[in-house]
Amino acid sequence: MQDTLTKLKNRDKEIQLLSHTIALLGWDQETCIPEKSVNERAEQISLVEGLIHDRVTSEDTGELFSLLGADERNPAGAPGLSGNDAAFIREFYRIYKKRMKLPKELVTEFAKVTSLAQAKWAEARSKSEFGIFAPLLERIVDLTRKKADCMGYSLDPYDPLLDDFEPWMKNSELASIFGKLEPELSALAVRIAEKSGRVAPVAVDGEFDERKQREISESIMKMMGFDFGSGRIDVSAHPFTATLGSKDVRITTRYITSDPVSNVYSTIHETGHALYEQGFGDELYGTLLANGASMGLHESQSRLWENMIGRSRGFSARILSLLKDAFPAEFANVTPGDFYTRMINRVKPSFIRTESDEVTYNLHIILRYNLETRLVRGELAVADLPAAWKAESRKLLGIEPSNDSDGALQDIHWSFGSIGYFPTYALGNLYSAQFYAKLVEDVPDADGESGSFADDTIADILCWLREKIHSRGCTLTAADLCGKVTDAPLDPNFFMCYLERKYGDIYGL
Ligand code: CO
Repeated sequence: MQDTLTKLKNRDKEIQLLSHTIALLGWDQETCIPEKSVNERAEQISLVEGLIHDRVTSEDTGELFSLLGADERNPAGAPGLSGNDAAFIREFYRIYKKRMKLPKELVTEFAKVTSLAQAKWAEARSKSEFGIFAPLLERIVDLTRKKADCMGYSLDPYDPLLDDFEPWMKNSELASIFGKLEPELSALAVRIAEKSGRVAPVAVDGEFDERKQREISESIMKMMGFDFGSGRIDVSAHPFTATLGSKDVRITTRYITSDPVSNVYSTIHETGHALYEQGFGDELYGTLLANGASMGLHESQSRLWENMIGRSRGFSARILSLLKDAFPAEFANVTPGDFYTRMINRVKPSFIRTESDEVTYNLHIILRYNLETRLVRGELAVADLPAAWKAESRKLLGIEPSNDSDGALQDIHWSFGSIGYFPTYALGNLYSAQFYAKLVEDVPDADGESGSFADDTIADILCWLREKIHSRGCTLTAADLCGKVTDAPLDPNFFMCYLERKYGDIYGL
């Protein structure tokens, strides 16, 4: 048995090395690739994707699973395997089963089309012409529907797609969570809008030097505990985190010279993701267990740092002092109270998801979710997407974008083929609030309203996250991890309570 398990682990090691290679190709594509190299890059990525597919689905992988007793009834293998070994088989077998159902041609074509689509999407967005991106999006939706059919589902074609990003969660569960969340969020947004006059915005004017902004990013990363010996920060059009090796976790940001605050919160967000990747238990590195439990869980780590901690009174006062040190004249008149209520926590419906506030953010996600589930079910044609977007935006946010750059073209994700991914952003917000409630019980100084956020407190927060969440990688499913850490299943009430308390105070509700 041990011998068989070792063979399976060796197989996984090759797959992890290939996955990190794809991450490197992708990272390079987003940060520094020369324009004329884009087509060959698509072929490179497609080739390595094919190699991964071959290794996962090879006949001997299947034999190893049957020797270990893994099948539909026992996805974690024969009884008697230790916790991490059983988790390893459970996760590997889940991936194997799905891959076995996908023809290789579909996998490589998908990789190629989505790699090409990214450049078309960028062109379409910059010109605000949906027609430039539409033919590729049609192919992506078509291939995605084929993928769902191949992977199989009993009720809902969205199930196997969601499972790629949020393993083990079914769309019925998601729909019921969103069904509860949407009316409560909308009602809160309306109550806040009625009091919006109470909080006038404050803006800072000036040219904010990129080099100084970069120094602020690095200070924040150090403050949060990022290990520069196994990671770095670079620049890309859209900030992201990528793991290029077990000891190589990279984040990106963008420096907007008219707005130094944008980079600050992107950096905190991506560092939250990176700390998760840098915090897996030593015994998990190099294996598929050195991964987040789900994308929603991953997003909970970035959002907890960005919002619950980063946008709290105590922590934001530290951020403001970094900004004042770098840009003394421009921030001279900004008080910590102004920064907190009038700059970083204003609630206002907006077109762009990435610029939206904590209250309306999840409504943006529900908007995309409503549209992509219809695309996948064949109830909505790609050509009708821009109009459908406007209608959903009016319904959920009360505003309608006048062009497609502010509407259906605003996010890159569909060009990656990431259909089923957006809901994990909302789940991340919900998980983060639930974890945060528990964190504050254990580390009272982490409370946003009254916390001290001295270096010791920040170290205590990271230590708590490492012990309870990071070190476990994906040895537990997201649902099991949530239950173990918070003694409760995922419940959107934690998020609503967090919003009510914070924004009730700011807007005097
Ligand atoms: Co994120």
